[in-house]
Amino acid sequence: MPLLIIQDDITRLEVDAIVNAANSSLLGGGGVDGAIHRAAGPKLLEECRTLNGCDTGDAKITSGYDLKAKYVIHTVGPVWHGGSMGEKELLTSCYVRSLSIAKERGLSSIAFPMISAGVYGYPFDQALDVAVDSIANFLDSCEDDMTVYLVIFSRRDYRVDGSLMTGVLDYMKSRYPDNRERVMLATGFKAMNMCLESDSAPVEDYVDSRIDESFTQMLLRKIDEKGMTDVECYKKANVDRKLFSKIRSNVNYHPRKRTALGFAVALKLSLEETEALLMKAGYALSDSNKGDLVVEYFITNGIWDINKINEVLFAMDQEIIGEY
Ligand code: APR
Repeated sequence: MPLLIIQDDITRLEVDAIVNAANSSLLGGGGVDGAIHRAAGPKLLEECRTLNGCDTGDAKITSGYDLKAKYVIHTVGPVWHGGSMGEKELLTSCYVRSLSIAKERGLSSIAFPMISAGVYGYPFDQALDVAVDSIANFLDSCEDDMTVYLVIFSRRDYRVDGSLMTGVLDYMKSRYPDNRERVMLATGFKAMNMCLESDSAPVEDYVDSRIDESFTQMLLRKIDEKGMTDVECYKKANVDRKLFSKIRSNVNYHPRKRTALGFAVALKLSLEETEALLMKAGYALSDSNKGDLVVEYFITNGIWDINKINEVLFAMDQEIIGEY
């Protein structure tokens, strides 16, 4: 179920299908279209010739030929004309149609480039929002296990919503230790947040009352307390079903920190509850870790949206959260 933002050349990926940002002729072009045709070899163009083109917002599938990917799903994104010509709906349709074809074929992994965000001029941050929202909504309603990669070719192009980044950067500045000190006791059982100001909650609020509870036990208890199903929780945590089954069946499972953070966001935990859950797995949030401060910002502001968090983590070259 995970949606993962990665930096790579899509033609190198060994996935079931890569998506091509094509034009309506399907006869090749520049950008990622050109790269995919070069890597796949001439047989791809031969097959594309039989498809009689593709409408904007639609998608068609071919074999992958010399690519590591088994298939190529060709979709035609909208050209940006300022945003009032149905561009957002057409771009959304590119992602939904491509994912629907992948689902029909029973594919379990698919990689997208940033459709329309190159030659077609779609503003990158808006194209990123459409991509993430379309894919996340599809995965939310999809029963099948499917891992989706959103492939960023060049970090230089990458842009996140400006107001979001400003919020995160302001928070990070406010948290540096000139006005508060975070001291983590070595016992491993207690994380104590000793603020120089009186704004911290008493220690017992930080130390979950079930000291001997394992990570798995606390996770499953929180799922029940929040009235969530297992599926709802692991989908929102950017974790796949197989891993969740492993966690559920092993009372002493030891997750990665990024996985534990994914569950904290999925469960909409407070900062204190997040620290308690992390502690069960032997981790803690740290003021000197940019990635932790980004997650803290979102949790403190009640924005439990793992995809938005990962957009910002990727922008800051930090490890994205969830399991992959
Ligand atoms: N791997 C991943 N992403 C890539 C790669 C690659 N090898 N090459 C380019 N990209 C990225 C670009 O950086 C951009 O962010 O793909 C995104 C889409 O850019 P374009 O390829 O220009 O696609 P688009 O904006 O949809 O324009 C489509 O361009 O190449 C022509 O034939 C194509 O006419 C069509 C138009």
